[in-house]
Amino acid sequence: MGVQKWLVVAALGLSMCACSASKPAEAAKPTPAPVATQALWGEMKPIVSVKELMRDMIDPASDYVFDSVGIFIDKKKGRIERIPKTDEDWDRVRMGAVMLAEGVYLLKIPRPFAPAGDENNSTGPEPEELSPAQIKAKLERDPVLWNAKIEALRNVGLEVLEIVKRKDANELWDASDNLDAACENCHLEFWYPGEKEFLRKLDKRLEDMYGPRTGARKLGMSPR
Ligand code: HEC
Repeated sequence: MGVQKWLVVAALGLSMCACSASKPAEAAKPTPAPVATQALWGEMKPIVSVKELMRDMIDPASDYVFDSVGIFIDKKKGRIERIPKTDEDWDRVRMGAVMLAEGVYLLKIPRPFAPAGDENNSTGPEPEELSPAQIKAKLERDPVLWNAKIEALRNVGLEVLEIVKRKDANELWDASDNLDAACENCHLEFWYPGEKEFLRKLDKRLEDMYGPRTGARKLGMSPR
């Protein structure tokens, strides 16, 4: 009798083992993320207008990249080429790239284009800039274009991150030009479309005079 009892216990134990042995396999199956996760991460709420986001975040972030390469004229030393050399130099380039790649997605959150009461330089006979209402109307007509400009800037951010990994200063020259273009291409659609032609001609003339890499923006002449 006693032996039989132990057999039953042993058999039960075995079946339990088999049972728990199959558990981990089941648990390893990926469980779909519950919908509630989204709610947990929370909604995105804007604080500032597009104009302020540009001035206080996107523009300063871009300077980490723009300022990392360039040609300067020094009174004593003459022509000086600046490229990132130390780890700290590369850290700054990486910071700029991350801030741009992540930060530009803040432009996907609906927000005012300018602070209340600010009409941009949109009045007068030949206004330089679109008014916030005009920009909004343009975006509502073509949200896909707005998104494409956002993605274009994000892609340059990713390009710069790859360059930082390789620490290839030569490639930064092109990336800096690409960054400039990503900013300009959105501005020329949504901010000051009238300058499209003017700037194209100015850039062309500057490049003819001073060679490539001396666009209007590089010489601090274009309003970005
Ligand atoms: C997806 C479109 C888009 C991209 C990309 C973009 N901008 Fe802008 N930016 C705008 C718009 C729209 C305005 C004008 C907002 C207004 O004044 O109503 C603006 C305005 C600005 C201003 C003016 C801020 C002020 O205080 O007057 C600066 C500076 C600026 N952008 C810099 C940049 C730089 C630098 C980049 C690239 C690194 C960039 N922007 C990329 C859309 C964009």
